[in-house]
Amino acid sequence: MKTIIFYYTGTGNSLWSARLLAARLGDAVLRPMKGADALAAGEAEAVGFVFPVHVWGVPQPVVAFVDRLALRPGTYLFALAVNAGQVSRTLLQLQEMLARRGLTLAAGYDIVLPSNYIPWGGAAPAEKQQERFAGARAKLQAVAAVIADREPGPVEKGPLWQRIVFSAIYRMTGKQVHRMDRSFWCDDKCNSCEICARVCPAGNIEMKKGRPAWKHECEQCLACIQWCPRQAIQFGKKTPAYERYHHPEIALNDMLAQAGGRSA
Ligand SMILES: Cc1cc2nc3c(=O)[nH]c(=O)nc-3n(C[C@H](O)[C@H](O)[C@H](O)COP(=O)(O)O)c2cc1C
Ligand code: SF4
Ligand code: SF4
Repeated sequence: MKTIIFYYTGTGNSLWSARLLAARLGDAVLRPMKGADALAAGEAEAVGFVFPVHVWGVPQPVVAFVDRLALRPGTYLFALAVNAGQVSRTLLQLQEMLARRGLTLAAGYDIVLPSNYIPWGGAAPAEKQQERFAGARAKLQAVAAVIADREPGPVEKGPLWQRIVFSAIYRMTGKQVHRMDRSFWCDDKCNSCEICARVCPAGNIEMKKGRPAWKHECEQCLACIQWCPRQAIQFGKKTPAYERYHHPEIALNDMLAQAGGRSA
């Protein structure tokens, strides 16, 4: 295997991006970060990281994964930071994390797809979603050509104001993410199907009397609220009125595979 792409996803945007890239590269295999061991990169010539931007930075589970992954110096490293329009310092943060280990991020790309951040609003209209899918598809085609040739590319970033203001928020909120699940609740539409518990990559949901209960080890990926087939999970007061979002080409089984540490 020449290229290995590790992915993390809550609503499928990152998995879809990783799949598109892998299809263009031809020599790549996909592996979920969840469940991958420290030696998972093996002898790969190129290693990629594909993940969503969370709170203007690298999600904590991705930080932990990248830090423990054994990487040979000289490996061609690349990343896609999948986001809803504000990549901020995310890729610079990853570049710095790798540099501390003497490794170089050869190329890091900002891939804009629909937002899954339901506390700020529901799914965008279908037409807007399609625009973003088309934009990302075109960009991924160009990105694949750079990666296939193992060329150095850009490490993309947001504007300076975003990097200053929002990176401070990332640092301030980091330790609180686990407990943000206090705002989740479940309404009477729940039919005890347990999909929320099975889809959670953090094992943060247990069923109590047929209803989900959150254990405060949350990664804020939003998979539970977005994949509940009955839209019975809510976050705060506004989500009963919001439409859910997940990438239309990603299936629940793909998400269950990730949660189980298997390739989708
Ligand atoms: C907790 C959380 C924080 C987010 N923060 C940002 C952000 O800072 N900038 C941004 O552009 N999108 C942000 N988003 C949106 C996601 O990055 C975006 O929808 C991404 O495509 C989701 O990818 P996924 O489907 O692979 O999880 C956030 C989403 C979540 C759940
Ligand atoms: S996925 Fe939805 S319907 Fe199923 S158990 Fe969870 S909250 Fe209830
Ligand atoms: S509880 Fe929900 S938001 Fe938190 S990690 Fe699990 S699936 Fe993601």
